[in-house]
Amino acid sequence: MTWWQPGVLYQIYPRSFADSNGDGIGDMDGITGHLDHLRGSPGSLGVDAIWVSPFFRSPGADFGYDVSDYTDIDPVYGDLAAFDRLLAAAHERGLRVLLDLIPGHTSVEHPWFRAARSSRTDPHRRLYIWADPTPDGGPPNGWTSTFGGSAWEWDEGSGQYYLHSFYPEQPDLDWREPAVHERIGEVVRFWLQRGVDGFRVDAIDRSIKDPLLRENPPALPGPRRFDSFRGQYHLWNKDRPETLDVVRSIRRSAERVKPGSLLLGESYIPIERLARYLGDHPGDAFDLVFDFPFLDSAWDAGALRHAVEAAEAHFPPSGWPCRALSNHDNPRHATRFGRGSLRAAAMLSLTLRGTPVLYMGEEIGMADVPASAGEALDRAGRDAARTPMQWRDEPGAGFTSGEPWLRIGDTSSVNVADQAEDPGSLLSLYRRLIAERAASPALASGSYRGLDTSPESGVFAYVRESGTERSLVAIECRGRAGSHDLFAAARGSLPKTGRLALSTDTSRPSSDDLDLSHVDLAANEGIIVSL
Ligand code: GLC
Repeated sequence: MTWWQPGVLYQIYPRSFADSNGDGIGDMDGITGHLDHLRGSPGSLGVDAIWVSPFFRSPGADFGYDVSDYTDIDPVYGDLAAFDRLLAAAHERGLRVLLDLIPGHTSVEHPWFRAARSSRTDPHRRLYIWADPTPDGGPPNGWTSTFGGSAWEWDEGSGQYYLHSFYPEQPDLDWREPAVHERIGEVVRFWLQRGVDGFRVDAIDRSIKDPLLRENPPALPGPRRFDSFRGQYHLWNKDRPETLDVVRSIRRSAERVKPGSLLLGESYIPIERLARYLGDHPGDAFDLVFDFPFLDSAWDAGALRHAVEAAEAHFPPSGWPCRALSNHDNPRHATRFGRGSLRAAAMLSLTLRGTPVLYMGEEIGMADVPASAGEALDRAGRDAARTPMQWRDEPGAGFTSGEPWLRIGDTSSVNVADQAEDPGSLLSLYRRLIAERAASPALASGSYRGLDTSPESGVFAYVRESGTERSLVAIECRGRAGSHDLFAAARGSLPKTGRLALSTDTSRPSSDDLDLSHVDLAANEGIIVSL
């Protein structure tokens, strides 16, 4: 068993976690000063690792996902000494640290790209993807970028187009070029030698494109967010089979410095194809890949069960799922699912088989904070999920003493300080669930089996099992109180009774013996039953 299989990861968006110097933007020292919230103190959440979104030098066209120096800290967040302090403080508490590796593209301001565009014969030219215009001067093909418009940008100085899967300020590196493997390999080595424990690897599916630059077919009708977006079906510029070689290359670079480093891949593709990125055996490619079909699922018992079991069924036997309900790119689940489901969603996320990744603020129920007209900063419209962490109910929310870079949400009940004192709060429930998970081999690392509840019941129920320990989890997703026959839904695989270990309704006595053929669940209640 690895540390990350039973573990819980926590994503920090550093611009918005904690500001130590009053400039309105979160920073390294801010994170270091708030580690008590995460691990190592009596009231901590008890998470095992943090993944910190990019804080490298960047002009900020994509808020850090456009890197101009992979091995230095952007001054807005501090410096390498501040990073070392954060790493040491985290490790002292037994909290591991994952960084964001962005292998697919640099910033236009990166010295490699500046050199590459300076002349067609500069040796850096081959690190990027260049192509001649069509005879009428247009882009080499019709590929569209994730954020809209052509994926090609004309470079006047050198008279060719360069490719960018995201913003024009993010030119794509060419992973068919060995020098790119070496350069990014050096980045991996730099941070692992400095002591980090692994990486979340950004947008891996964009690293390889068709060398013939074949045209993508037009988009198919209907919502198909993973492959079909911006007017076309991204067959030739996303998730090419050779991408696995890129992952293996990053894996080799990591293994040379620190065997067992965690590599967690990001790719918005269907689960069957995602499974390939786990490679042929553990330690071959990624350890974990985000299950985005799960993140995309509606708050519905049938849809959730489908998403969960698709990963269970498609992953290799050694594969281990990894799920998040929110992150910095998507609307928060408090907004998507509605507030009523937050306690049950916490139980779901922390009791499924797989590594949960919590997004900062979800533990207190932060919802999207839409930017008003004129306030929007992110051109792709993701500000609402990135607003500052709400530490206290006061101006600046305990996040900053200055003017926050993004408008802060309503802190009146959604704040860490008040919820920390309240045993009935969402934050207290997260702590209890994380502790329960850590103490239970069945929940932390056991097998998963779904119960055959009817879709009409609105209940998603499953059994986690390890050795002689068995736990039943049942989540009411429809928002209606009712009585449910989980004994029948288990088709003979469960005993008639169990002991209620934990309910999202903390007023329900936990010692209750439950008759599994008549399990009463309140609207949006989740329960864990020891069998
Ligand atoms: C990933 C990041 C996203 C970024 C994109 C380009 O999807 O999570 O924030 O814009 O890659 O780097």
